[in-house]
Amino acid sequence: MNGDRIAKLQQSFGILGNSDEIREIIETIDQVAKTDITVLILGESGTGKELIANAVHRHSFRKHQPLVKVNCGAIPAGIIESELFGHVKGSFTGAIEHRKGYFESANNGTIFLDEIGEMPLETQVKLLRVLELGEFLPVGGSEIKKADVRIIAATNKDISVETEKERFRKDLYYRLKTITISLPPLRKYPDDIPIFVNKFAIEFANRNSIIFKGLSPNAMNLLMKYHWPGNIRELKNFIESMIVLQKGEVINSKMVEKRLLVERRIPSPNLPMKVSKSIDQAERELILHQILLLRRESHEIKNILSEKIDRLDFEKMPDSGILPHLFPVQKEEKVTEEGEVKENYIINPNMLGTVSFEEVERELIEKTLNKFNFKKRQTANSLKISERTLYRKIKEYGL
Ligand SMILES: Nc1ncnc2c1ncn2[C@@H]1O[C@H](COP(=O)(O)OP(=O)(O)OP(=O)(O)O)[C@@H](O)[C@H]1O
Ligand SMILES: [Mg+2]
Repeated sequence: MNGDRIAKLQQSFGILGNSDEIREIIETIDQVAKTDITVLILGESGTGKELIANAVHRHSFRKHQPLVKVNCGAIPAGIIESELFGHVKGSFTGAIEHRKGYFESANNGTIFLDEIGEMPLETQVKLLRVLELGEFLPVGGSEIKKADVRIIAATNKDISVETEKERFRKDLYYRLKTITISLPPLRKYPDDIPIFVNKFAIEFANRNSIIFKGLSPNAMNLLMKYHWPGNIRELKNFIESMIVLQKGEVINSKMVEKRLLVERRIPSPNLPMKVSKSIDQAERELILHQILLLRRESHEIKNILSEKIDRLDFEKMPDSGILPHLFPVQKEEKVTEEGEVKENYIINPNMLGTVSFEEVERELIEKTLNKFNFKKRQTANSLKISERTLYRKIKEYGL
C-alpha cells in the first residue's frame, strides 16, 4: 500500500502515527473493513481500540448504517442478554413490553462489543450462535430473529489466558480471532510521541484559545522515555493539563517532571525521588510541596495581572488557529551570556510534521482577507500572489 493512501486513510480516521506498527494497522483496516469478517481488537487501556473500531466501520460498506457500541463490562450479568438480544413482554418481572436488543438496533450495521472479556459464559454461547448462524432468540421469546450485523470486539484482557482459566469459551475465541488487530502499547513506539504531543497540544490550544509555544527538546525527550501505562489517552490528558497550567510558556523538562510526579504520584525510573520514605510520607510531602508552589504561582499571577490589566491591548489578545503556534517568535539572532549565538526560528520547530501546507495556506489567506476587510487587491498584493490565484483559492477553500 502506498504512503499517500496510508496518510489519507489516517487523516480521515484521525489516527496519528508514523511508525511501522501504526502503518500495519492501517493496512489491516484497509484490507478487512470492506468485508463482513469479525474483527478482534486487542490492546492495553488507552491504546486506541475504540478509535480503530470506528475506523473499521467508517471504512466499510456499512458506514451509513448504525454502529452500536456495547460495553459488556458495564452491563450487569443479569440483564446483558436482554440488552443484546431484546426480550418479549412478560419474560421476566419488569418486562412490561417488548424491547429491541442491540443486535436488532444494529441491523445492517456494525456492533462493537467492547470489553468482550467481561461477557458472562452463558451469553458467550448465544453470541457464538449469532456469529455462526446469524440468528438469535430474544429473552423469553420463541421466534428466532435474523441479524445482519458485522461484529467488532475489543478487550484489554489476555483472552488466551482467560480461555485457559475457562472464563472465556475457546470456540468463541477461535471464531473471534480470525482477524486480530493488536494495538501496541505506546512505550513500544516512542518515536511517534512527538507527533501525538504536538497534534494534541495544538488541537487543545486552538479549542481553548491558549497560546502553545512548543516543548523544549529535553521536555520532549522525557515524554519519549516515560512508560505511559495509560497509553495514548494518558498522554493526551497529560498534554492538555500541561497546557492549562503552563499558559504561554515553552514547556521545559522541569515542568514535565513536576507534572509527571503530580499526576502519577509514584516514583518513576526517569524521575528522581528519595526512596527512604514511606509512600504515605512521600505523598504528603509532595502534596504540600505542590500547594506551596501553587500558592507562590497564584501570587505571581496576581502581580502580573495587576501590572498588565490597564495596559491591555485587545489587538494583541491570543488568537486561535495554527499560525500563532507556527510562528510564535520572530527570526532573530540572540547572543547568550556565554557568547553563543542562538537563532530563533520563523517556524516553530515543534510544529514541523504536524501541519500541512494546505492548513497553513488556508488560514493565512483567511486572516489576511480579514485584515484587509476582504479587499482582494490588497490581500493579493500583501501575499504576493495574483488576484486570480486569490479568487481561485477563496473558492477552493470555501472562504
Ligand atoms: N493512533 C491514535 N491517533 C490519535 N489519537 C489516538 C490514537 N489512539 C488513541 N487515540 C486517542 O486516545 C484516546 C483513547 O483511545 P480509545 O478510547 O480508542 O482507547 P481504548 O483502547 O478504547 O481504551 P480503553 O481500553 O481504556 O477503553 C482517545 O481520545 C483516542 O482518540
Ligand atoms: Mg475503549
